[in-house]
Amino acid sequence: APSDPDLVERARAAKAKLGDKVFVLGHHYQRDEVIEFADVTGDSFKLARDAAARPDAEYIVFCGVHFMAESADILTTEDQQVVLPDLAAGCSMADMATAEQVAECWDVLTEAGVAEVTVPVSYMNSSADIKAFTGKHGGTICTSSNAERALTWAFEQGEKVLFLPDQHLGRNTAVRDMGMSLDDCVLYNPHKPNGGLTAEELRGAKMILWRGHCSVHGRFSLDSVNDVRERIPGVNVLVHPECRHEVVAAADYVGSTEYIIKTLEAAPRGSKWAIGTELNLVRRLANRFADEGKEIVFLDKTVCFCSTMNRIDLPHLVWALESLADGKVVNRIEVDPEVAAFSKLALERMLALP
Ligand code: 13P
Ligand code: SF4
Repeated sequence: APSDPDLVERARAAKAKLGDKVFVLGHHYQRDEVIEFADVTGDSFKLARDAAARPDAEYIVFCGVHFMAESADILTTEDQQVVLPDLAAGCSMADMATAEQVAECWDVLTEAGVAEVTVPVSYMNSSADIKAFTGKHGGTICTSSNAERALTWAFEQGEKVLFLPDQHLGRNTAVRDMGMSLDDCVLYNPHKPNGGLTAEELRGAKMILWRGHCSVHGRFSLDSVNDVRERIPGVNVLVHPECRHEVVAAADYVGSTEYIIKTLEAAPRGSKWAIGTELNLVRRLANRFADEGKEIVFLDKTVCFCSTMNRIDLPHLVWALESLADGKVVNRIEVDPEVAAFSKLALERMLALP
């Protein structure tokens, strides 16, 4: 549905009043009505870099989910304030690894005699606490656009990687991009004693994968891929690496949201694409490229929006902007300074990856 013209006008007016004081970042999964007011859009990596590159903006309004706003707070200066227009915009994957569970996991690895040779690599989609743990133990953060480089770096520092919290990104990168086998990977289940693993299994593994996943991407299946290939002969299947291993293995192209956009920009007229990622982005791309004669469909019609990304809507954005324009900071995301210091270490290791 088209956006309420009154709200559009109010968002414009508040932004105009704030001028350069505010910088609005929008993740690719945001609604169209929100993307319209973003000064920059991007994948998680690009948005982290862009937030850090704006030291003059007093306020960073982050249209995305909580862990992204936390990372922006960690990477910006002390004077800058980061605002998340709806505090309920979390991420179920990030919630699958708590600080207590990860500390317990490290004890299990220590007990098995492997902690010393293990380097933690944490996906951006994790809380600041997990990023701090990662920094403290000599590890790095990664996103879906640099996971292979992060893992290559980590295996130069140690013999094993503890990959948190997305098992699929960890497994897909290790097996699809780096030539490891499925047998090199074990799955650590935080809800079982010792992660459900024996000390011997831990000693034999190269990749210790945390048992987390994305509830949206986890719903694409091998059937989704087979069905679309049958329905649309010649279709190219392009998916996000948060999809399950069998989906990624059956796809033609795999990459971050930014990669997905770039790939479609470069695609020839008349080509056909089935995309396995969040629905707001796929719809926007289908509309954008329809004029260029590129046919773009959603990989599986039964999969829906990321409900937490969708929490940020135009009414919340207007409220945040108008409050800032009135000199009132609402929904500020502020990471504890000690946590922020260790998280920053891990994030800076990522930003410095070759
Ligand atoms: P990208 O880094 O590919 O944008 O993915 C972010 C993400 O997973 C949000 O779910
Ligand atoms: Fe989290 Fe998945 Fe939503 Fe991304 S799409 S924010 S990983 S739940």
